[in-house]
Parts: sequence; C-alpha cells; structure tokens
Amino acid sequence: MRTLSERTAGFTDSVIRRMTRVSIQYGAVNLSQGFPDFDPPKEMTDRLAEVASIGPHQYALTWGAQNFREALADKIEHFSGMKVNPDTELVVTCGSTEAMMAAMMSVTNPGDKVVIFSPFYENYGADTILSGATPIYVPLIPPTFHFDPEVLEDAFRQGAKALILCNPSNPCGKVFTREELMQIAFLAEKYDAYVITDEVYEHILYAPNVHTYFATLPGMRERTIVCNSLSKTYSITGWRLGYVQAAPEIIDRVKKVHDFLTVGAAAPLMEAAVTGLQFPDSYYQNLQAHYTHMKDLFVSGLKDIGLPFTEPQGAYYVLLDISEFGYADDEQFCLDLAEKVGVGAVPGSSFFREDVNHLIRVHFAKKDETLKAALDRLADIGKMKR
Ligand SMILES: Cc1ncc(COP(=O)(O)O)c(C=O)c1O
Repeated sequence: MRTLSERTAGFTDSVIRRMTRVSIQYGAVNLSQGFPDFDPPKEMTDRLAEVASIGPHQYALTWGAQNFREALADKIEHFSGMKVNPDTELVVTCGSTEAMMAAMMSVTNPGDKVVIFSPFYENYGADTILSGATPIYVPLIPPTFHFDPEVLEDAFRQGAKALILCNPSNPCGKVFTREELMQIAFLAEKYDAYVITDEVYEHILYAPNVHTYFATLPGMRERTIVCNSLSKTYSITGWRLGYVQAAPEIIDRVKKVHDFLTVGAAAPLMEAAVTGLQFPDSYYQNLQAHYTHMKDLFVSGLKDIGLPFTEPQGAYYVLLDISEFGYADDEQFCLDLAEKVGVGAVPGSSFFREDVNHLIRVHFAKKDETLKAALDRLADIGKMKR
C-alpha cells in the first residue's frame, strides 16, 4: 500500500479528547474537555423542537441562512458597535473550528508564516499544518501571560503574514488589555499582516476585565478576520455553529473555501439559534453572573485545598501548578490524577511550545454539584506526591 499523507502523519489524537476518554475509563469527574454540563437556554431548545417538525431540513444558503446572518449582524453591532453587512461580511460555519480553518486557508499559502502566542488552543497547530503555514510561536509569560513586544516584533520581522489572537484566551484565561491589542495592531499595520481572532469567549469575562473587539481598533477592520461561535455563549457546543466576520474581499474567499469544506452549517440548528441571537442584554448579564459564580466556587475551593493556580480573567479554565508533586511528565500526572484522585485534567504541555510541564488545565463550566464533587476529590490530591 502507498503511504498516507505526510502532512498529517504527525497528528496525534487530540490530548483533550483523549483525557475525556481516560476520565470515562476511570469514572473521573471530567474537567478536561471544555464544554458545559448544564442545558442550553430553554427558549432555544423549545424552538429546536418546533423546527424539528416544521423545518428547514435541507441545505441552507452555503454562507448561512439569511435570517441567521441578519440576527447575527444585529448582535455584533449591539456589542461591538461594528455595523456588519450580513450578505458580504459574514459566513456561517460549522463552529469556530471550521471558521479558523477556512480563515487560514483563505489567507495563507503553503510556507507562509503565522504568529501564534504560546500557550495556545491546540487546534491552531493543526490548522497551520493543514494549510501548510509555518507557525512562529511567541511566548505569553506566566503567571501574568504578558508578551515581550520585542519578541513579538521579531516574529513579524520574519515576514509573518498573519497572527492568531485568542482573546479571551484558552488555556490561560488572559484577557488582552486595550494597550496590548494596540501594540499588536501597530505591528500588524507596520508589517502588513492579517490578524485572525478567535473570540469564542467574548461574553465570558470576570470583572473588571472587559473585552475589546480587535477589529474595532483604528485601521484594523480591513485586516482582521474574526472567528467566533455560538458554542460557549449559548452552551450549545454540539450544535456546531460559528462564523467568520471580515471585509467583503476576504469573505468572498472564505465563502468559497467554506463551500468546499462543509457546504454549510446545519439548517435546523441555525433556525433554532436565531432565538438566542435575539436575546436581550439580561441574558448576557446572567451568563456572566453564572460564570462568575462557578469561577468563585471553584477558585475558593482550590484555595482551601492549597493548590497554586492562575485565576482567569476570562473564559473558564484554570491552570494548576503541579510542581510540588515531583512529576517530570504532566501527561503521566493527568493519567494518575484520573485514576487515583478521580478528576480529569489536560496536561499543560499540550498548549505550550516551550518546555512547560508543571501546569495542568481544568475547567469549571459545570453544575455546582459537579464542581463540589471535583473539589472533594481534589482535596485528596496530596496522595499524588512522589
Ligand atoms: C479558544 C477556542 N476556540 C475554538 C473552540 C471551538 O469552538 P467551536 O465549538 O465553535 O468549534 C474552542 C473550544 O473549546 C476554544 O476553546
């Protein structure tokens, strides 16, 4: 038999999904894969039930149902102030995952360089491989996860065509300040690079942090390709609804790439999700209050246990520092943690380019009882000491 693709030969099983399987194997409370264990808003699931009987059930327009894009454009304008043309500046995708892939395929040629902050959401590495781009990693330095502007400029100097900006960030929970974003914008302009943003946690923020939409910075609208999603905002990670927002010339290309990647997002789910896109402000205020409650519950439990951790400014992940346990290998630590303590976590090394193996990632998008069960188990973590 001929050999399979060299391009994808180095792909490993996603570490996050592997840890979910390990959690199931040991009956562990799974804090690895970042999805909520609570239900989406009832208005949306009720509407989905209606749509199941009345449709639509056939292909929608490849770049997304008209009413969905119109509702989305209104929501974007409401929160960011950007007036977006739903016909020429939006493409609905199968989650932000497809949005990022379509953005990369639309912007880069094989061999082009793309700046990625490290730690990074693991898909970005795979996206660069699939599109043939070469990543240049720029460290976000723990514990504050700031970047060194000199190092960033050096990356642009190497001829980077684009930068991927995850804000709020998974896994480190960083919310970039306006000043930091202005530094990135300055360099993007100076070196004529695109900025591909991943803003799936735009509504999951902890006071006093606020989200700055990168595309709203002076001069950035035409060079920003926004990848975003309904997954986290409406607790519908399984509906696979995301989108790309960019200038018409870029969207024109994204539409074509998207058409060949997936044809389109699921028509009945788009129809049901319009309900969510039209929610009033109170929905988003309650969402923030709910996440703040979960964060506070989890973080105060970790403090009681005495585990060192980074407190997130946004998104719903915590990096725990496991230095004291004497493990050289964070993956082995996570396997042992699932088996002996009964909590599923993700080894931090899967997010860092640098040699970092003293951090593990857990998430807290969970019901109170799940978080309490996890904290009860983590209270026993002392037995992991070598
Ligand atoms: C930073 C980030 N981007 C994208 C995704 C995937 O989003 P979607 O469900 O829209 O594909 C996730 C999911 O965890 C994420 O954390």
